[in-house]
Amino acid sequence: MEIRILKNEAEIGAAAGKLYVDYINANPDCVLGFATGATPVPTYNFLVDEYNKGNVSFKGVKTFNLDEYCDLPKNHKNSYFTFMQENLFSRVDLNQNNVDFLDGNADPETESKRYAEAIKAKGGIDIQLLGIGRNGHIAFNEPSDKFTDEAWKVTLTQSTIDANSIYFDDIPMPHYAMTMGIGSIMRSKKIILIATGSSKAEAVKNMIKGEVTPQCPASVLQQHDDVVVFLDEAAAALL
Ligand code: GLP
Repeated sequence: MEIRILKNEAEIGAAAGKLYVDYINANPDCVLGFATGATPVPTYNFLVDEYNKGNVSFKGVKTFNLDEYCDLPKNHKNSYFTFMQENLFSRVDLNQNNVDFLDGNADPETESKRYAEAIKAKGGIDIQLLGIGRNGHIAFNEPSDKFTDEAWKVTLTQSTIDANSIYFDDIPMPHYAMTMGIGSIMRSKKIILIATGSSKAEAVKNMIKGEVTPQCPASVLQQHDDVVVFLDEAAAALL
């Protein structure tokens, strides 16, 4: 793992964003895996700025996303699909036909197979962006007894419900989600993980310095040979 500790979220957004701009310019038809949550927002803002300056185009880019809530309409204001539209997709020249998303309302097994085949058909994910949960989860792969493989339907833990329910002001937060599995994430050619703030420090320590265990799903990244981890000083405090 390459660890890059920077001062603040803005610096990380620019550094991670620059990596994307260079990659897209060199590989205009690339396949990118995106993530939701507060953490990647500065990176998305940087990408939108670069697009507005004419420094990058998303015309040929294909996208997949890590996860989506179950029992929530696709266009609900709190769906991850809406999040991506608002924070990145509708703000750049991405072709909406090139956007693929897990359907949290489909039959989980059928949807898992469909997603795996769609990723394979596009040649795999070139760069997968990740955040990390306070309990070490990646995407919605919560701590458990085994590492998962392809996409699956997960029951969210109380830690995740507590962290994310602040976004749900009209309806209770869903307790289930469809998530890319650990195997699907690990098959990405390159992984960029961003963690900011002191609430992530313990999970970051376990991810980088702890044993590789499904009890800290992010620890599996120690076994991937091309991972860049961007941290601010607070998230890196326990290293
Ligand atoms: C959610 C998402 C993850 C994300 C994590 C951290 O549960 N499923 O993909 O990395 O929360 O979110 P945040 O960046 O808001 O801290």
